[in-house]
Amino acid sequence: MSKKLVFSGVQPTGNLHLGNYLGALKSFVSLQKKMDCLYCVVDLHAITTFQDPKELNSNILETTAAFLASGLDAKKSIIFNQSSVSGHAELAWILNCVCRVGWLNRMTQFKDKAGKDKEKASVGLYIYPNLMAADILLYKATHVPVGADQKQHLELSRDIAQKFNNDFKVDNFFPLPEPLIQKNISRIMSLRDGTKKMSKSEDSDYSRINLKDSADEIVKKIKKAKTDTDPITDNIKDYEKRPEALNLLSIYSELSEQEIQKTITEFAGKNFSFFKNQLSEKLVETISPIGSNIAKLLNDKKHLEDVLKKGTEKAYIIAEENLKKIREIVGFV
Ligand code: AMP
Ligand code: TRP
Repeated sequence: MSKKLVFSGVQPTGNLHLGNYLGALKSFVSLQKKMDCLYCVVDLHAITTFQDPKELNSNILETTAAFLASGLDAKKSIIFNQSSVSGHAELAWILNCVCRVGWLNRMTQFKDKAGKDKEKASVGLYIYPNLMAADILLYKATHVPVGADQKQHLELSRDIAQKFNNDFKVDNFFPLPEPLIQKNISRIMSLRDGTKKMSKSEDSDYSRINLKDSADEIVKKIKKAKTDTDPITDNIKDYEKRPEALNLLSIYSELSEQEIQKTITEFAGKNFSFFKNQLSEKLVETISPIGSNIAKLLNDKKHLEDVLKKGTEKAYIIAEENLKKIREIVGFV
């Protein structure tokens, strides 16, 4: 049995939002109390689509600030950025040679992100899931907290780990990493369209609550959020065809740490304008302190760089020890 170890990553590609917080960051924070954790700003992943170098640089620090502002503690967790531990790229190459083309061809995120013109997507975007497998396996991580959109990539990481162990006849060398996906609300949906996930890349800023939004912006966005004309009922089945209503009620439940049934019972018979006021209040209560903490942390870039540097030193030691063994297993001299 491998020692329990948590690994997860977030791309430094702009505004972090409520989906990132409820789908990932919140569980990063609760896990650091129970297990050894590595949390990585995955800058190598970010450049699979072109990033302006200056913006990338500031986004790396901003994502680090968001980690800390959400409650990650650099004394408890290893916080670092991917490109400063070169072992990620080295192991990714080895895993490129383990993973099969057919496996990558099944990845739905590539299809979504590459869009209609697949020929024009970067090769990096295509093999990105192998880099993600390398991130996890480099540390022999056993548990990976992610949002539901990453489930398929996690399954691929398990297949790659298993094939490596089989091909090189090293039983259980790589543990098969387990996804940790929030039970109640694994995907926060767009505020404009309840069938699409809330995302950094969506054009309309009204589709998401950013961690840096002011209280006024949060209230305005929730006021404008799409709902329908029906009142709130207390039968969960009624929401099967009401994705926007379900999304808002789920967000409220998650912020209140209660089951959705309790929320719909509480608000049954009320209209959405009443509910939206209560939801805005909860959001401001949770998100505003994080936003102002991010702003505060960004005033001291040196501190953020220092956090990454110290984290990198710790991550590097674990990575090198595992890589030494991996190089030996593969047969490098
Ligand atoms: P990314 O910003 O794509 O690097 O995602 C960072 C983490 O946030 C990953 O674990 C994602 O699965 C999670 N995440 C991103 N968007 C959402 C969403 N709309 N709902 C839930 N989790 C999300
Ligand atoms: N692919 C993840 C995303 O887009 C980010 C990521 C990169 C990650 N490497 C990882 C998540 C390793 C968990 C483990 O959200």
